[in-house]
Amino acid sequence: MNILVTGTPGTGKTTLCQRLSEQLHLNYLHFGSYARNIPVLQDLWNEQIQCYDLDDEAENMIMDEMEPLMEQGRCIVEHHDARPFPERWFGLVIILRSSTEQLFDRLSSRHYSQEKVQENIQAEIFNICKEQAEESYSPSIILELQSNTLDDFNSNVDLIQQWLSSHQFQQ
Ligand SMILES: Nc1ncnc2c1ncn2[C@@H]1O[C@H](COP(=O)(O)OP(=O)(O)OP(=O)(O)O)[C@@H](O)[C@H]1O
Ligand SMILES: [Mg+2]
Repeated sequence: MNILVTGTPGTGKTTLCQRLSEQLHLNYLHFGSYARNIPVLQDLWNEQIQCYDLDDEAENMIMDEMEPLMEQGRCIVEHHDARPFPERWFGLVIILRSSTEQLFDRLSSRHYSQEKVQENIQAEIFNICKEQAEESYSPSIILELQSNTLDDFNSNVDLIQQWLSSHQFQQ
């Protein structure tokens, strides 16, 4: 089984993936980082918004690179968009949620432009990542978790481990 961790930028995907990958010995894959390593995709870098404008063809190239690892299982994948992947890849999909105040502080401290901060906060308010995940996966494998405080983080790690145990995931 593989795990997908999704959510608006700044909700804590990397933080959670790193902890779970250490604790459960999972292979952590960051979808966006793959783009950096594929030479033909460098033309898609958008300097203004500091991210790649990935079209379907580019996403498919990244997924071709990921496929062998996903076939092996025990991968935890971070991406803000749950839609590009084949449904069969994931046995658990985690959607992280954060308050407007938390996201504002976290994204502003990254020195993002005000425009980019506001765009992400709007996306969170309008449940964009959540709806994309719910469009793509069965509710029975989705966990939507609050990610505002350290207590949230610790209880999320515990809850995910319990979920995995009760779904026969070898820990
Ligand atoms: N549960 C939490 N409580 C408090 N702070 C948190 C929590 N989770 C993450 N953070 C902090 O929020 C910031 C953003 O976290 P992180 O980089 O993991 O987000 P992300 O979702 O991976 O963002 P991106 O989509 O841009 O990669 C970091 O400074 C991290 O330490
Ligand atoms: Mg991240």
